Amino acid sequence: MPRRKGLYIAFEGGEACGKSTQARLLTERIGERALLTYEPGGTGLGARLRAILLDPATGGDMDDMTEAYLMAADRSEHMAKVVSPQIKKGGHVVSDRTFVSSLAYQGAARGLGEQEILNLNLANTGLLTPDFMIIMGEVSAEERSIRLAAFGKPDRIEAAGRDFHTKVAESFGRMVDTLANDSRTESIKTVYIEQEAAGVQKDIPSLHEEICAKLVDYCQETSVVCPI
Ligand code: TMP
Repeated sequence: MPRRKGLYIAFEGGEACGKSTQARLLTERIGERALLTYEPGGTGLGARLRAILLDPATGGDMDDMTEAYLMAADRSEHMAKVVSPQIKKGGHVVSDRTFVSSLAYQGAARGLGEQEILNLNLANTGLLTPDFMIIMGEVSAEERSIRLAAFGKPDRIEAAGRDFHTKVAESFGRMVDTLANDSRTESIKTVYIEQEAAGVQKDIPSLHEEICAKLVDYCQETSVVCPI
């Protein structure tokens, strides 16, 4: 039996991986019972925290732990005001990022430790863990440069440098195992989506169909009523 009436679905991945586009497409496919939201910034207070966190004017010298706590504060507000109420009323949530971004960005790339960041988030944010998580793989360096150039001026975290983003990508590459090997996150069904087939970037509709097929499989495996 499903443990919730509504599904909590999450998209994750590094910069310019296409997760926001895919989150929007899946939300549209599910229809009116799905709420599209995001971290950081999916609440009124969160929008202000997002501005502090991402504005290049904040500067590069924010203490790493402060950054982790501000992400967690945003998440706490997001859980209380958006995710939990929607799940409680039986709706579906599609979230563009979750605590898993904190494991990759603050835990792995800033070097605070993925376990430490998981502990912090589980202890302090009223965290609900997603039922189904899609990790979008890394796009090629060439594709990423084209996409980032189209986004315009990089935000504070996008501008963190190549080594930082390599560590983020490596952490997401290990994430299926990281989550499966911890009793606190093992219930999350996590799928990793490769961006290329035979060396060619998959297009947006193909990625969408692949994600939908994985969601259908998940629902069949767990006897959950499929939302699509
Ligand atoms: P976005 O560009 O996908 O909206 O995400 C905002 C940025 O914030 C992105 O660079 C990833 C970063 N981030 C973290 O560093 N930690 C977190 O916990 C979250 C949710 C996002």
